[in-house]
Amino acid sequence: MDVSRIRDDFPTFKNNSGVYLDSACQTLRPYQVIDAITSYYNEFPSCGGRSVHSMATKVSMSVDTSRETAASFFGCNDPHSFIFTKNCTEGMNIVAKGFGLRKGDAVLTTDMEHNSNHVQWVEMTEDIGIKRKITRTSKDGVFDIEDFKNEMTNDVKLVSMVHTSNVTGSSVPVKEIVEVAHDKGAAVLIDGAQAAPHMPVNLKKLDVDFYALSIHKMLGPSGIGILYGKEERLKKLRPLICGGGTVGLATYDSVKITAHPEKFEAGLMDYAGIVGTAAALEYLSKIGMNNVKEHSIKLQRLIRNELSDVSSISTIGPKDPSQRSNIFSFNINGMNSHDIAVMLDNADKIMIRSGMHCAHPFFVSRNMNGCARASFYVYNNEDDILRFTKAVKKLAATFSK
Ligand SMILES: Cc1ncc(COP(=O)(O)O)c(C=O)c1O
Repeated sequence: MDVSRIRDDFPTFKNNSGVYLDSACQTLRPYQVIDAITSYYNEFPSCGGRSVHSMATKVSMSVDTSRETAASFFGCNDPHSFIFTKNCTEGMNIVAKGFGLRKGDAVLTTDMEHNSNHVQWVEMTEDIGIKRKITRTSKDGVFDIEDFKNEMTNDVKLVSMVHTSNVTGSSVPVKEIVEVAHDKGAAVLIDGAQAAPHMPVNLKKLDVDFYALSIHKMLGPSGIGILYGKEERLKKLRPLICGGGTVGLATYDSVKITAHPEKFEAGLMDYAGIVGTAAALEYLSKIGMNNVKEHSIKLQRLIRNELSDVSSISTIGPKDPSQRSNIFSFNINGMNSHDIAVMLDNADKIMIRSGMHCAHPFFVSRNMNGCARASFYVYNNEDDILRFTKAVKKLAATFSK
């Protein structure tokens, strides 16, 4: 993988805009994606799936192409199983609200979920009377298959879990989880926001029922996500939002809801984003997802070599760098994580994230106040990491207690 060639594709590097280590939030975008977005606005800025004139037909065909690209990227031969959403959160909510959970049905999650796989369950516990069950991970967020099996009682109708944690970088064994859940008759929804950008994900092989992800975390446009569902599951799933594009024929007092994916894509869509999605996935395919994964492990090892001797720095997540994906979460004794982030940015132009990373229960349950998080991607090189570790060591030497 030639990182310096990759960097040439990213306009932000031309502007000397610093070291970007916040890719778990949103990645930077290459020219190929930006050009695809502008080609929509310059050449065919019309609507899809409605008008039949030539410009609109080009939009409809581009949407089809993007769906096909997504299907092939995620190892699936049915493009209709791929719904365009505005983000991973929307995908998670479509399943939560449309699955048909009733009073007494249980949903099983891990204890390290992002709020996009947490808030709706608390709400639905209060509103409908569903039960929420939680399988506990270790302090560092390592999944415990035995604890999961113990929690997998007959009332669990839906297992809804993060594939890779945005705090610890640790991943859960999806295939094993699916086998256990299916044996018990439960469906599986996976939050792939942090996994899909960083490892090969073959949805057919994983055999998941639903998989939600964000395209803006994998070089694509802001505000675009994908929800995958197995055909038989999507047929039964009720749409979260209704309106134009989701019905066959409507009379004053009846509507005929159309088939998926359209029944989940109400109203005019973000066509520029959908066109940009194909460009992002094609770009990643050319690099190869195994190479993307290996690159993260290499950078994680470098961080460990540089920082493991600094006693005032504590890390969150598995000790083994190969188990942390692209995420390095840490604290410096006596420092607030937001101060770390602001100082790194102000003094060294290094951009990281700080706080509780929308995974509040993870921190509250471990009696922690948050952490600083550096997260990298295909465009980060060893130089970026060494600038980061040098600056962190300087902060630790100056401010740690
Ligand atoms: C694990 C995880 N799930 C879900 C989300 C939500 O993604 P989005 O903001 O695209 O809805 C994030 C965002 O950081 C995340 O890290």
